[in-house]
Order: sequence, then structure tokens, then C-alpha cells
Amino acid sequence: MRGAPLFPFAATALLGLLLVFSLSLVGLNIGGEEAANEGNGEGNGEEQEFDDPVELGQSVYEGQCASCHGGDLEGGAGPALDDGSHGEEDILTAIEEGPGQMPENLVQGEEAEAVAQFILSENE
Ligand code: HEC
Repeated sequence: MRGAPLFPFAATALLGLLLVFSLSLVGLNIGGEEAANEGNGEGNGEEQEFDDPVELGQSVYEGQCASCHGGDLEGGAGPALDDGSHGEEDILTAIEEGPGQMPENLVQGEEAEAVAQFILSENE
């Protein structure tokens, strides 16, 4: 009988701990989702969110190419890409081989295609 009165206290303490623990888990989950959503809006080159390849291409361009070729393809460290002189093959070859100072294979596959489509669409 001596130990019996302790039990309710222990149980209450345990419940309290569980509550705090589960609340903090809920908090973490909410925080995680918000962080994921923020990432999406920023056009950081993540696939799957764009139905239109040109839109994907623009987002990839801004993330990977604009620093050297200019935000409006006007050129900078790299040549201008808005003078209509680049065909799809030229662009894809440049992306793959990285001529001169340009790093090779900055983007690949679907993203490379999309960037080419974006550049071509800007030259129309
Ligand atoms: C670090 C800077 C840099 C980045 C980033 C960069 N480029 Fe370049 N790019 C260059 C330079 C410099 C050249 C010229 C190379 C040469 O011919 O000497 C070039 C050349 C090109 C050319 C050929 C242009 C021509 O007239 O011959 C294309 C097309 C091109 N880049 C597309 C892209 C695309 C698309 C991206 C993004 C995926 C990109 N570049 C990212 C620096 C860069």
C-alpha cells in the first residue's frame, strides 16, 4: 500500500511528457511543410512543377545560366543568347561541352531541353 499513492503522480508526469513530446512533433511537421512550400516558389530548378517546358526552362535558366548570360539573355561573362544565332543543337552542345569558361553539364536531360526551349522562345 505504501507505494500506491505514487502511481497517479507518475502517470500524470508521464502523460505531461507525452503531451509535450507530441506537440513538439506536430510543430516540427508544420515547420517542415512550410519550408518545403517556400522552396517550391523560388524557381530553384526543381522539376515536376511545370506543365510548360518553357517555364521549367526559364526557372533553370535563372538558376544556372543568368549569372553569366544575363537575366534577359543580354550576355555578361558569357555571350548574349538573345541574338537569334543559336539553334537548339548549338545550345544543347554548349550545355553539354561547356565551351571556354563555361562549366560543362550544368544541367542535363529534361532540364537541358527545357532551357534550350526557353532560349529559343526568347529569340522568336
Ligand atoms: C560560369 C559562367 C557561365 C554559366 C553559368 C553558363 N555559361 Fe554559357 N557560356 C559562358 C561562356 C564564357 C561562353 C563562351 C565560351 C566560348 O566560346 O569561349 C558560353 C557559351 C554559351 C553558349 C554558346 C554561345 C555562342 O555564341 O557560342 C551557349 C548556347 C550557352 N553558353 C548557354 C548556356 C546555358 C543554357 C547555361 C545554363 C545552363 C549557361 N550557358 C551557363 C559562360 C557561362
